[in-house]
Amino acid sequence: MQTIRMDMREKTDPEMIRKAGEILQRGGLVAFPTETVYGLGGNALDEASSAKIYAAKGRPSDNPLIVHIARLEDLALLVTDIPEKALILAQAFWPGPLTMILPKSPIVPDATTGGLKTVAVRMPSHPAALELIQAAGGYVAAPSANTSGRPSPTTAAHVIEDLDGKIDCIIDGGQVGIGLESTIVDLTGETPEILRPGYISKAMLEEVLGKVTVDKGLTSEDEKVRPRAPGMKYRHYAPKAQMTIVEGEEDDVVRTIRELARKDTAAGLKVGIIAAAESAPKYSEGTVREAGTRSDARTIAVHLYALLREFDEMETDRIYSEAFEEGQLGDAIMNRLLKAAGHHVIRAEKM
Ligand code: TXA
Ligand code: MG
Repeated sequence: MQTIRMDMREKTDPEMIRKAGEILQRGGLVAFPTETVYGLGGNALDEASSAKIYAAKGRPSDNPLIVHIARLEDLALLVTDIPEKALILAQAFWPGPLTMILPKSPIVPDATTGGLKTVAVRMPSHPAALELIQAAGGYVAAPSANTSGRPSPTTAAHVIEDLDGKIDCIIDGGQVGIGLESTIVDLTGETPEILRPGYISKAMLEEVLGKVTVDKGLTSEDEKVRPRAPGMKYRHYAPKAQMTIVEGEEDDVVRTIRELARKDTAAGLKVGIIAAAESAPKYSEGTVREAGTRSDARTIAVHLYALLREFDEMETDRIYSEAFEEGQLGDAIMNRLLKAAGHHVIRAEKM
């Protein structure tokens, strides 16, 4: 299949959007930019389209898709109940990087929700995404537009790397704004629960909702306590290299990574280092990449996946990453880093 590329880096083009919408209406697949990461869109209400999405990504079919909408009034068709808290969240954070889990209505095919009785819904804020969803008829199922298991795409080039020839069309909107997938909140229980941390932090949610819990499966050391979002179980966002996160005081972390990089390099291994802008100049061996500055976590989030992909391309054998401060967006950054590293963390010893 020839994948059509539509260039909308400068501005969204209504004629091209109309064509891409038609492709979706006919059951085809269109990758598109959102403010978080690129999505791989198909008609959410059509079983065959969802099946095509799973096939193109090589994704396990028990891992449900997020349904993207462009207008709040379109939510009612997808769910059997809209709790008050969902309206509060929609008011506060939609359109934006927030996904809500709600009880699904029969119109949503099991193929879209991986057989679950709940459905994930999000209204993205990217203008091209909103226009595409409308042009497609209002309901676009879209996982991240990567091959299953690879880091999510933050540029159209990443999408092409993974899906060229496997999908009908890709809308190039340049680099995304946030770089990490949306926050997922489950609203089907008594207390809202975060199933995947993202740009919308626990503190931001609690400001409008009151108490919010975090899925214990995200942080538990116990193998039996699995994350509740099926997708968080898989070794995801994963680079090909063996990856280690080093935590501790900055000077200790730098010294520890320098020592590890020195040994690996001497053993003939290719080493990649992910560092904050503040400490990057302190490394001399290995390929050093600045993720962003510690004074603004957004600069780290937006570069993270591209760095992991770059290290894959260079066929790096070992990646060492500095740990970043938790709290707010830092929780999402560390969640993705930990997953990429298969939870392999070491503590830098004090001098
Ligand atoms: O930012 C995002 O959310 C991006 C953009 C494209 O919107 N999409 C995205 O989709 O990250 P995906 O498929 O890569 O991740 C969806 C996550 C998976 O972890 C999946 O298991 C979870 O949402 N999920 C979907 N439906 C669910 C449900 N009914 N219950 C629990 N988790 C669900
Ligand atoms: Mg994904």
